Amino acid sequence: MAGKIPQQFIDELLARTDIVDIIDAYVPLKKVGRNHHARCPFHDEKTPSFTVNQQDQFYHCFGCGMGGNAISFLMEYLRLDFVAAIEDLAARAGMDIPHEAVQTSQPNKQFTKLYELMEMTVAFYARQLKKHPQADNAINYLKKRGISGQIAAEFEIGFAPPGWDNLMSALGKVDNSTKQLLTIGTVIENDRGGYYDRFRNRLTFPIRDQRGRAIGLGGRVLGDDEPKYLNSPETPLFHKGRELYGLFQARKALRNIESLFVVEGYMDVIALAQFGIRNAVASLGTAATTAHIEKMFRLTNKIVFCFDGDVAGEKAAWRGLENALPLLRDDKQVYFMCLPEGEDPDTFVRDKGKDAFLDPALQTPLSEFLFNSVSHGIDLSSPEGQASMATKTLSFISKILSAPALTAILLGKLSGITNIPVDELMSQLDAHKKIESANKPLRKSEHVNQKNHKQHSILTESIRLILRKPALALDDSLNEKLSEIEVAGIEFLIDIVKYIQSNPNTTIAGITEYYRDKEKIRKRLVELVPSESLYGEVEFSDAAIRDSFLYTLKKLRAITIHAKLREFGKIGTIKELTEEKKKEWRLLLEAEKKLKI
Ligand code: UTP
Ligand code: MN
Repeated sequence: MAGKIPQQFIDELLARTDIVDIIDAYVPLKKVGRNHHARCPFHDEKTPSFTVNQQDQFYHCFGCGMGGNAISFLMEYLRLDFVAAIEDLAARAGMDIPHEAVQTSQPNKQFTKLYELMEMTVAFYARQLKKHPQADNAINYLKKRGISGQIAAEFEIGFAPPGWDNLMSALGKVDNSTKQLLTIGTVIENDRGGYYDRFRNRLTFPIRDQRGRAIGLGGRVLGDDEPKYLNSPETPLFHKGRELYGLFQARKALRNIESLFVVEGYMDVIALAQFGIRNAVASLGTAATTAHIEKMFRLTNKIVFCFDGDVAGEKAAWRGLENALPLLRDDKQVYFMCLPEGEDPDTFVRDKGKDAFLDPALQTPLSEFLFNSVSHGIDLSSPEGQASMATKTLSFISKILSAPALTAILLGKLSGITNIPVDELMSQLDAHKKIESANKPLRKSEHVNQKNHKQHSILTESIRLILRKPALALDDSLNEKLSEIEVAGIEFLIDIVKYIQSNPNTTIAGITEYYRDKEKIRKRLVELVPSESLYGEVEFSDAAIRDSFLYTLKKLRAITIHAKLREFGKIGTIKELTEEKKKEWRLLLEAEKKLKI
């Protein structure tokens, strides 16, 4: 995908972008010394370890290790894909993405137009709630449900008046927009090729994505008609399985999201917000998907699934559990909150108040929820029941990929319930895991012997230094020096050098971008980015950095020479060598002397 947008364009785009402006719009930054600081938006922390370096056009968090350039930031923070991040930056910089690249993604201008129309739709319905002669019904309904004007305004609740073509006649005629209104799902095409409004005589609830763009709508009847809610269909802008209603508002209202309640409906989010519980989002009537959970775990360490006290709610909770297991980590927790039968968060909070809703006693940890649910209907006093309990629970535990502490605790508990020793459970778990092994994460490091390790760390240091000062690659004699080095991984440094030589004004931001498609390398580079913890606030002189860089190259050359000399040692005595080989040997000795290491 990245290959389709010319690298040159991306470099130019990064050069015209200031990462400080981009990040500051989402995470207010404070200038300290050369860097800008903030509390990290990617993990929970009390003191700021997130820094943005303007010169390098790079951000890095010493707490969680996240880092990257402006493109990475938009991808991580707004959960955009690569092309969308480029489109976003290009729009800000007033640059057009080169034509051949645009064809592979979605046509940029057309998308912009769709977002515009959706925004106009939202505004149109909001206006009708204030102005339309029949809006009284809607206002009264909102009052009846206890929604304050302030909350209605904040969530941009609107009114789609009765009639088949209110929206059509207001927006459909501008630039022939009817087809686009169809694309964003706000109008429907009938059999005869005519069009009519999707939302009629309903309250409207705009759905915004994390960036705040309107992407869809929900519409509620004012009485007891069916269907109670209509939602935007899947459109190029709206994907129900990915979006969470209320997330945009929650992020706007809260600096730090300590936990997120996942509720079922629009009205639940709105009622909770009105009672000062701003950390609620709705999965819009479906169970939380993996994409939803991933999105939430980027923002918080604790998710509380809070579903209605009915059969549908219970099912949704169970699906949420299954989808959450592979994403659990020991620092990420999932709780379940089961409301009394017949209640939903909206009725509960209005009836019992904020404190009652937030009472921790209502929140069951995932482990307990799992055991309670699995053991349902099993007679745990019989050996058969215990065996069945063990197998069923283990098949769930085996889905946990990266929470070793939690896994151990669950096994301990399961052992207590089933009277099967933990060791035995563990080996059974391994058997279950083999079945799941397709999902297993990659082994992190391969075995390296000590010698390789030393070479490796010197090479790492030289890469670190060149990232700190890319201009080092422009040294005249550098290519020659590099050609004399033969250690594992040197091709990587050479590749970076070549890249810098053909893009002399690049920064760390550009270099990591060059490796966008090679995620492993990019991650490694990000780890190597010069960090304050290593260099402190001290400004190293260019000369000092250059000296250190040249020293690492010298060492790598020495390692190469020593290895070659050792090879000669294996051949036998020098006398037995051909003239040519002898010459080579002498040259190596000379080179070794010259290097004086
Ligand atoms: P609920 O029926 O629990 O809605 O459905 P609610 O939010 O409590 O509605 P009120 O309190 O009666 O106004 C939960 C969610 O399921 C989706 C909607 O997203 C709703 O908010 N839903 C429900 C639909 O999409 N269509 C429907 O007909 C019903
Ligand atoms: Mn409700």
